[in-house]
Amino acid sequence: MANSGRVLITGATGKVGSALLDNLANDDIELRALAHDESEAKSLEGRGAEAVLGDFLEPETLRPALEGVGTVFLLTPIHPQQVHQATNVIEAARGSGNDPRILRLSVHQASHQSPTRISRQHAEIEDTLAASGLPYTLLRPQSFMQNTLMAAPTVASEDRIYQPMKEGRLGMIDARDIGEAAAKVITEEGHEGKTYTLTGPAAISFHDIAGALSEVLGKEVTYIPVPLEKAKEAMLSRGIPEWMADALNEYAKAHSEGYSDWTTDDFERLTGHSATSYKEFASDFERVFRGG
Ligand SMILES: NC(=O)c1ccc[n+]([C@@H]2O[C@H](COP(=O)([O-])OP(=O)(O)OC[C@H]3O[C@@H](n4cnc5c(N)ncnc54)[C@H](OP(=O)(O)O)[C@@H]3O)[C@@H](O)[C@H]2O)c1
Repeated sequence: MANSGRVLITGATGKVGSALLDNLANDDIELRALAHDESEAKSLEGRGAEAVLGDFLEPETLRPALEGVGTVFLLTPIHPQQVHQATNVIEAARGSGNDPRILRLSVHQASHQSPTRISRQHAEIEDTLAASGLPYTLLRPQSFMQNTLMAAPTVASEDRIYQPMKEGRLGMIDARDIGEAAAKVITEEGHEGKTYTLTGPAAISFHDIAGALSEVLGKEVTYIPVPLEKAKEAMLSRGIPEWMADALNEYAKAHSEGYSDWTTDDFERLTGHSATSYKEFASDFERVFRGG
């Protein structure tokens, strides 16, 4: 997917989108970032991209953002209306008259038969993309290492991680690596029609995560498996909406049953180097795990 024309990055203030922006900022590429409000647009100043206002749920705002765009990095948030949001962008891209290439951030094992509603949403969006006639590439990452930052408060205050993953192992990946892989796809030729399933270097359990944190923080961190109902109560008490808590628990149940106990070498083949290990990730985010 070599770059032709302007690149529109959606989700540019999020975990993957901001990493992509960092990877492309010094390239000779005209970058545009979609911001859904003024404060988000302001936060993008000085990042090497023109910020344009647009909301996934307001199709009329997407048309101007797509003008003159040759490539779209399409990332939509975890949301009950994710299908509607992504469909609006695909339709605006089709309507732009430029036939832009779409690099879609999907999820590993996106399927209509998936045990998780989010992966079923992604399958629906992948179908819409395939039917659009636009050239596209799929990135299908495993869970983000950044998800474990949700455990930072109890790591800092109690030296414990509470998760409903049992002994499950996940080939989790650093979201910054996904941004790097996305930049490769955007700036190189030959990625149309391809799917990259991105994982970290190893499938690891939460005991392994606790072990890595113990080494980095210089204290004994312990993983305490908890039942799904307890995890849901804790998420609701932190203000996480019920739809999201149930969606995350569907993943947790699947992970605990071996759904994600595998890795691929797609990241290494795309970038020429190995993906970030959990210990490297924990070192980079040491301040957060110390409660800072
Ligand atoms: N977390 C995982 O483990 C995992 C694994 C595989 C795949 N995924 C997929 O990754 C995607 C989420 O990626 P992420 O974690 O990088 O996202 P994120 O950090 O949650 O960021 C979401 C981005 O979307 C923007 N946004 C939200 N609502 C919008 C709207 N209505 N219009 C325009 N922009 C809007 C946000 O802007 P603001 O900053 O202003 O809110 C932000 O830039 C989801 O599709 C998810 O299924 C996640």
